[in-house]
Amino acid sequence: MYLSDPFDDLLICRLSEGRKAVEPCVIIIFGASGDLTARKLVPALYHLFKEKQMPPAFSVVGVARREKTDASWRTELRSALDRFSRTQPVDEAVWQDFAQHLQYCQGDLTAAATYEALRKRLAAAENELLRRNLLLYLATSPSQFGEVVEQVYRAGLLHKEGGAGWQRVVVEKPFGHDLPSARQLNQELTRFAGEHQIFRIDHYLGKETVQNIMMFRFSNAVFERLWNRESIDHFQITVSEKLGVGQRGGYYEEAGALRDMVQNHLLQVLSLVAMEPPVSLAAEAIRDEKVKLLKSIRPLSEGDMARQVVRGQYSAGIVAGEQRLGYRQEAKVNPNSNVETYVALKLFIDNWRWSGVPFYLRTGKNLPLSTSEVRVQFRRTPHVLFAAQCGQKLDPNALTLHLQPHEGISLRFNGKVPGTSVAVRPVRMHFSYDAEFGAYTPEAYERLLLEAMAGDATLFIRRDEVEAAWQFVDDIRRAWEHKPLTDREFYAAGTWGPVAAEDLLAQNGHAWREPLVVRV
Ligand SMILES: NC(=O)c1ccc[n+]([C@@H]2O[C@H](COP(=O)([O-])OP(=O)(O)OC[C@H]3O[C@@H](n4cnc5c(N)ncnc54)[C@H](OP(=O)(O)O)[C@@H]3O)[C@@H](O)[C@H]2O)c1
Repeated sequence: MYLSDPFDDLLICRLSEGRKAVEPCVIIIFGASGDLTARKLVPALYHLFKEKQMPPAFSVVGVARREKTDASWRTELRSALDRFSRTQPVDEAVWQDFAQHLQYCQGDLTAAATYEALRKRLAAAENELLRRNLLLYLATSPSQFGEVVEQVYRAGLLHKEGGAGWQRVVVEKPFGHDLPSARQLNQELTRFAGEHQIFRIDHYLGKETVQNIMMFRFSNAVFERLWNRESIDHFQITVSEKLGVGQRGGYYEEAGALRDMVQNHLLQVLSLVAMEPPVSLAAEAIRDEKVKLLKSIRPLSEGDMARQVVRGQYSAGIVAGEQRLGYRQEAKVNPNSNVETYVALKLFIDNWRWSGVPFYLRTGKNLPLSTSEVRVQFRRTPHVLFAAQCGQKLDPNALTLHLQPHEGISLRFNGKVPGTSVAVRPVRMHFSYDAEFGAYTPEAYERLLLEAMAGDATLFIRRDEVEAAWQFVDDIRRAWEHKPLTDREFYAAGTWGPVAAEDLLAQNGHAWREPLVVRV
């Protein structure tokens, strides 16, 4: 007998149907000749257009200093699509339609004349909504964010209160480099724009799998019931990169892994994994819970720093058969640099749900795999019935959320090995996004741009959230200041980090589990 797929009937909850319609608008990209525009923003807009998700009327106005015409900017972006579009080949007919919406406005961001030219250009739009609904995307250097917002405001293009239409400011990462600079930037921006108009990007939040953390937790009673200190032994959150710093040595010397990855992506994933259920799906309700969680991370005392924080820097080694330089030998890196390319942390969250449960976080460059995952390690069984046959300890159950690549979820449990003897070994059930839903996975920037146009701030970072994250990270940075790296803090490229990272877990009888390589 043929049974229809029972899941089809259950595809009932489409959150996008609850999204406000996207009104006609102009997307102004400040930094239109830069890498982010070519690599991420324009490919994302092209795909939204292709998927018919863009508003009925829109235009994209790019601002930068380099001399270009509309035509030459379009030609450059067209060839960038060949490199960066997630679908290949580029659909030429769709591109031709889309390209008609792209305009280039040459100008210096420090000159009032640039904003006057923009104002005149917008005023000429026939559609009234295209004169007042503006998405102002700051894809320039962070040191320019404050000035651009002020100038846009002074040109009458941004209304903090009471103006017609809507104006929103999308701010790229990094948002400050420590708590004082983040506070200062917040102050600069909020002089000219309300908090509800500021959309701070962490592109991790645009990833399907990161959004799925909430769906997974709050739509499956079977797991949410186990999501507490009674059932969970510890968490391991890994965001590892196979690449070294490459040509970005100059940037990395200012950032380091703590600022570049922990302050934003890892703490964001942690807050989604560990927060309490929000009272609704409203942006503020979710962000309230995330901030509450960040504020519940137990501050690290000086003694804790030594026991709970590990930093590392890669030395020369081999990654995937390729010889890699040590960090200090990379271009634009100080040969005596103490900048960390690896961080591992053991955190505790001081609330009822997570009391006593360690959260291990690690991130690094030149590691054996590029992967992001959350491993939830459950407690062991209180008694082992098969101890005589299998030993006193059975492998504990584990649930792994694979954020990238090979997006999916796997559950590891014990099963009987077929045969006449009693033998137990871990087996795995795996859900793969691609296998279940097909290969359509929008890029994070597609979702983020769409949400910003729709005015939904759920996937963007609120002011208090960014400040709470910096506060935590700054304490660690201060503890490292003036302490040169010791021999134990170096790791060979191609290994999983310094030995101290193993000790960090061994103190509690734990060990890092190698991220799962999913066969596809
Ligand atoms: N690239 C990425 O993948 C990536 C990822 C995450 C975050 N971000 C963030 O996104 C932002 C942009 O990064 P990016 O990599 O695209 O940088 P980029 O390649 O250096 O581009 C910077 C852009 O700013 C423009 N610009 C600089 N000074 C200007 C001025 N005085 N007047 C007008 N335009 C000016 C440049 O254009 P002209 O030289 O033509 O003036 C260029 O278009 C940064 O905040 C970065 O941290 C980038």
